Amino acid sequence: MIAGNFELVARVVKARSGLVLTPDKLYMLETRLAPLLRREGLPTLDALAARLRDAPSGPLAEAVTEALTTNETSFFRDGAPFEHLRGLLPALAAARPPGAVLRVWSAACSTGQEAYSVAMIAEELGPELAGRKVEILGTDIAQEVLARAREGLFTQFEVQRGLSIQRLVRHFRQEAGRWRVAPELRAMARFLRWNLLDDLRPLGRFDVIFCRNVLIYLDPPTKARVLAAVAERLADDGVLYLGGAETVLGLTDRLVPVSGARGAYALPRVAALAV
Ligand SMILES: C[S@@+](CC[C@H](N)C(=O)[O-])C[C@H]1O[C@@H](n2cnc3c(N)ncnc32)[C@H](O)[C@@H]1O
Repeated sequence: MIAGNFELVARVVKARSGLVLTPDKLYMLETRLAPLLRREGLPTLDALAARLRDAPSGPLAEAVTEALTTNETSFFRDGAPFEHLRGLLPALAAARPPGAVLRVWSAACSTGQEAYSVAMIAEELGPELAGRKVEILGTDIAQEVLARAREGLFTQFEVQRGLSIQRLVRHFRQEAGRWRVAPELRAMARFLRWNLLDDLRPLGRFDVIFCRNVLIYLDPPTKARVLAAVAERLADDGVLYLGGAETVLGLTDRLVPVSGARGAYALPRVAALAV
């Protein structure tokens, strides 16, 4: 692939999603775009670039961007944020009026394991939430992973990553060699296509936000912009969880670390609920 064409693809993908493609990612383009080339009847990546040059914002650009997203995820990824959430949800429930709904957002949810991990915790907490319902919204830029998240159907390999046997038996039903999330958990979660670069205000405000393992793919100005917009969606006493390799430091002063909880952030001036 000629360098100018790589740059063109990288520019299109960054403009649409914020994802940064450096030249060492050429192998990634070759492997991840191969099915798209076949589908479109295009012989080479250079031919794809030529098509993109003529239509940098059409469905092809969208398909290229989606194919270049990294959708790696697992249930209860990294453990600690979910342990913290287990203490946080009852505290938030106690701080809300009876009948209130606790809203949790899994931003960049991929195939839904993060959203369903939250649902499992909410279900397991049961009476500790004092009747407050939990509503989970999963969003992602990629349609294909969202379709899988909505199905809530996972392979043996996927459920083996992060789920204890007790949780598997409690929250899943076996279905033709795969595992379907139980209906009561699926009823808590809803999945929507949303680009983190777009206006996030229509999503409303959330008591808890998981925005994990997506900022690592963005450049610092885009990270700062997304973090500021995400912070605006957080309730005054809410908590934002970032991925293990992500931080707000040097990017925004709208969020401060929650002491004693690695990867957890809250709005400044309002002390986070003691958990
Ligand atoms: C590595 S996965 C992280 C999944 C999950 N949050 C976790 O930590 O396990 C990153 C996800 O971010 C999504 N993504 C990338 N750019 C995005 C954007 N601009 N808006 C929304 N989602 C995006 C990708 O499609 C992908 O599913």
